[in-house]
Amino acid sequence: MLEIRDLYSGYGDAVVVRGVSLDVMPGEIVALLGRNGMGKTTVIRCIMGLVPPQVRSGSITWRGESLLGLRAHDIAGKKIAIVPQGRRLFPSLTVTEHLTMLKSASAKDGWTLDRVFGIFPRLAERRHHRGGQLSGGERGMLAVGRALMIDPELILMDEPSEGLAPVMVQHLEGIIVDLKKEGLSILLVEQNLYSALAVADRVYVLETGRVVHHGTAEELNNQTDVLFQRLGVQ
Ligand SMILES: Nc1ncnc2c1ncn2[C@@H]1O[C@H](COP(=O)(O)OP(=O)(O)OP(=O)(O)O)[C@@H](O)[C@H]1O
Ligand SMILES: [Mg+2]
Repeated sequence: MLEIRDLYSGYGDAVVVRGVSLDVMPGEIVALLGRNGMGKTTVIRCIMGLVPPQVRSGSITWRGESLLGLRAHDIAGKKIAIVPQGRRLFPSLTVTEHLTMLKSASAKDGWTLDRVFGIFPRLAERRHHRGGQLSGGERGMLAVGRALMIDPELILMDEPSEGLAPVMVQHLEGIIVDLKKEGLSILLVEQNLYSALAVADRVYVLETGRVVHHGTAEELNNQTDVLFQRLGVQ
């Protein structure tokens, strides 16, 4: 359903994504792993139509239709949502304002404010708090909640567990698995191998902009030593 073929992309003269091919099928969780600076966010930004980077060559298609050249707004309209690295919240907007920015609070279809508050009760308690007053965990939940409010079929999650306490990481893993059960597809950028293997169906490992390893989570579970080497952890 999402199909990336031989993607080259970079910033100015620097090419940082070099021939990446990757698929996300309906209802699948695909993890994109790699150390710092390996090109994970660049791939995500290319899918979402965010500039920079610039796409040099290759293709990105969604349901058979090319996404290249479309703006982020149009891509969101095609039901692809992003949980950006670093969350990108607005310090002065409240939790409710973040969630209803793209959808009216009274909307009845798909994901509603009540439904997001249902899976993140903590956000309901904090609904009048501003972005700048939230804890790391709450910011993470809000970024996921905001993505859900566009009723996505695919969510691009760029290190959603970054900076979270282990208990929050587990909570988030549970949410990701629940979303998959509802038929959502997720492309999950992670640095934490265990977190990725816990939820993903398939895994790709990026190294300096190339896919150096890919397989099902089941296959890679037996190769964690190789992966740890690739990812630079013991
Ligand atoms: N706006 C930019 N301008 C120039 N170079 C950039 C820019 N953003 C990223 N890069 C470079 O592109 C390469 C890939 O960066 P990218 O952000 O895609 O890596 P990443 O795998 O997401 O890393 P991290 O795990 O640290 O988020 C890095 O060498 C980085 O320095
Ligand atoms: Mg990144």
